[in-house]
Amino acid sequence: METAQFETDLSLFKYDNLEQLPPAYRDLDEDERSERIEAALDELGDDVVILGHNYQRREIVEHADFIGDSYQLSKEAANADADYVIFGGVTFMAESADIITDDNQSVILPSMEASCPMAGMAEALQVDAAWAEITAETDDDIIPITYMNSYADLKAFCAEQGGLVCTSSNAHKAFEYAFEKGDKVLFLPDKHLGTNTAHRLGMEDEIVEWDPWDPEGKDASAAAANDIILWDGYCQVHERFRESHIEEIREEHDDVNVVVHPECRREVVEAADVAGSTSTICDVVENADPGEKWAIGTEIHLANHLSRWHPEVEVLPLCGDACMDCNAMRQIDPNYLAWVLEELVEGRERNVIQVAPEEKELAQVALDRMLEI
Ligand code: 13P
Ligand code: SF4
Repeated sequence: METAQFETDLSLFKYDNLEQLPPAYRDLDEDERSERIEAALDELGDDVVILGHNYQRREIVEHADFIGDSYQLSKEAANADADYVIFGGVTFMAESADIITDDNQSVILPSMEASCPMAGMAEALQVDAAWAEITAETDDDIIPITYMNSYADLKAFCAEQGGLVCTSSNAHKAFEYAFEKGDKVLFLPDKHLGTNTAHRLGMEDEIVEWDPWDPEGKDASAAAANDIILWDGYCQVHERFRESHIEEIREEHDDVNVVVHPECRREVVEAADVAGSTSTICDVVENADPGEKWAIGTEIHLANHLSRWHPEVEVLPLCGDACMDCNAMRQIDPNYLAWVLEELVEGRERNVIQVAPEEKELAQVALDRMLEI
């Protein structure tokens, strides 16, 4: 079987046009900064739209036109007709917005340092090599599915091999699509979301893991003998949740319910009452009766937003707030937001995410397949 040819840059930051915050923006007072952001937004009017992921800080989401999960934000990006889409999120989300929007629209990621470590765990070059090894061991059709949390070159690879993209809200549908088209799935990069999806479909006995960093962890013939091959990537934030955190919170509050993100380990998802994407987590709290208690097993900023947005519900972070902060999401500093907006008012575009044209077309195919399932 032919393998795809993609140039890929094995660096933490995918883009080298990283522009740092000018000193004048480093110590802005919150009230002054907010006023300046709103003044720039008034000046720019319909030319700009701000999309904010649920994990963004309060000072970002309070200026956002849309707040949502990565699937909802990709749909908003597709519908946006503003000249500038400012993405409050991480690089892979801004890349997807650039792929989906028209060529005359610019996608701006206020800080180029907002790189999700999980997306960096499956480099297209590594995947291409694994693909060659595994496909050499079987005549079955393998369909690659990549989680949205991956870079554009990997999305392009998946499209080229008949696969698609999914988010945590539609991974099960992507698996169903893949099993209609082929015999096996290679799922990248999040092994926990892959495991949880296999369980949801009753296919947990078909799982095999592929660890590209461990020579012992990649047996191509064993991989090819199973129906669901999971790349050994994970989210450093969600992997920290343990079953013991759920046991402890249930001991402290006998009437507490627990909702977690499906990037959590299998045993954590099993011990929770509900598992779902960040928008599912929002819906659960929004639909809770006044006085209900919900422990939130995901990034701390979302737990804090839910507590502010729904004071009638008792919202508790699943394991305190010390360790569940996503450092990648945190890079979108409101000072950067003020800077990129004021630069736009002056006619200068800063920190624009531009996916390479050769990746863009194919990656769009993989994203369009997701938007159609
Ligand atoms: P959602 O797709 O649920 O918004 O999650 C994105 C993400 O990065 C979770 O860590
Ligand atoms: Fe990436 Fe995890 Fe942060 Fe989501 S929470 S952006 S998966 S590091």
